[in-house]
Amino acid sequence: MLDAITVRHMPFEFPDEIDPVFIDGDHKQSFAFIAGSLLLPHLEPYLIRSMKAAEKYVTDPEVLDGLKKFASQEGQHYQMHKKFNETIRRSGFPELEALEKELSGDYKRFTNTKSLRFNLAYAEGFEALTMNAVKHMMEPNGFGDDLPVFMQMVEWHFVEELEHRTVAFDVYDHVCGGYFYRLFVGMWAQWHFTRWIRRATQYMLKANPQPKKGAKEIARGSKAVPVVKAASVGNLMPGLLRIYLPSYTPHDVEISPGIQVLADKYTKMALKTS
Ligand SMILES: [Fe+2]
Ligand SMILES: [Fe+2]
Repeated sequence: MLDAITVRHMPFEFPDEIDPVFIDGDHKQSFAFIAGSLLLPHLEPYLIRSMKAAEKYVTDPEVLDGLKKFASQEGQHYQMHKKFNETIRRSGFPELEALEKELSGDYKRFTNTKSLRFNLAYAEGFEALTMNAVKHMMEPNGFGDDLPVFMQMVEWHFVEELEHRTVAFDVYDHVCGGYFYRLFVGMWAQWHFTRWIRRATQYMLKANPQPKKGAKEIARGSKAVPVVKAASVGNLMPGLLRIYLPSYTPHDVEISPGIQVLADKYTKMALKTS
């Protein structure tokens, strides 16, 4: 299920201003989503740079084709998130700029100073954790109908993350290989980017705190945003344990048929596909 990687150019446009508490009454989950979105225009270009650096060492045509499509999909993702993030910047949170600068510095430094093996293991660490979080949040059938545009964007992005779930693993395996190195760098990568998401979320919560229970703002329902299952270490644990096993391969991961339905929906919605 879900074997093809399709690069979709999506038509999403965002309103000039958006309430950063877009999940009604849930500041923490809204801000965690936003922090994830802020991370991506720094992280995904780094993944693309790592893949491009690996390209000349890839001799298997199937792996090479996956690598190119992975880079194209990630390119579309971060450009769309960048567009969304502009609307978030208009709603305040001035200290995010410094946090983003620090993150961008980290990723530039990794490209310039770390080995290709490190950068590919980081990429797989990110992809493996993302795949688990996405499966947890979206299976079996996605977020539901009548989604606001931001959640459609997230859903499209997540579908493509599942489509290219095997690529970073295969490129690492093909170009460098080694279980223990992938395990340790991958776990460090997961600590590195989730720590940044936590810091950005905490800052946003400090700047715009969750109202106490009973306050008017926490009445759910008026913004028509679905309640998304939160991804936490506890509920991701079974999937996470699997990705740390020596026998793990994303080729064995089952994806629910409902995700293919979503993939087809977003293919139809796309301005262009390749
Ligand atoms: Fe992505
Ligand atoms: Fe990805």
